[in-house]
Amino acid sequence: MFRPISDELRQATSHDGSPSVRAVGFTFDGRRMTARAGDTVAAALLVNGVAACRETPVSAARRGPYCLMGVCFDCLVVIDGVGNRQACLTPLREGMAVETQHGARDIGALERDE
Ligand code: FES
Repeated sequence: MFRPISDELRQATSHDGSPSVRAVGFTFDGRRMTARAGDTVAAALLVNGVAACRETPVSAARRGPYCLMGVCFDCLVVIDGVGNRQACLTPLREGMAVETQHGARDIGALERDE
C-alpha cells in the first residue's frame, strides 16, 4: 500500500533544505492549475482549493480526497480520459487533463457484453 517517495519529490528540496521546486501545469475540469513536481494528483487538487473531485453514483454527493493513502476511494477522478483513477496514488505529470468523475464508474466492455 505504501510507496517510497519519488525521486522527483526527493529532489524537490535542495541540500540546505530550501525548496527548489519545479512547477507542473495541469487542468482540472478545463481550469489551468499548477502544483509541485512530485505531488500526487490529489495533493495538487487540494493545494489548488479543489475539495471535491467526484460525485457518488446514487445521490451525486460530492466527495474529495480523504485518506490520501489509497483506502477510501473518495478521490476517484478521470485522468486523460481514463476513469476510476485514484488521485492520491497517481503522480502528477505535466499537461495532465484531470476531470471530475460523475456517478457510477464505467467498467467498459465487461458491462456492455452482459
Ligand atoms: S484519498 Fe482515499 S483512496 Fe485516495
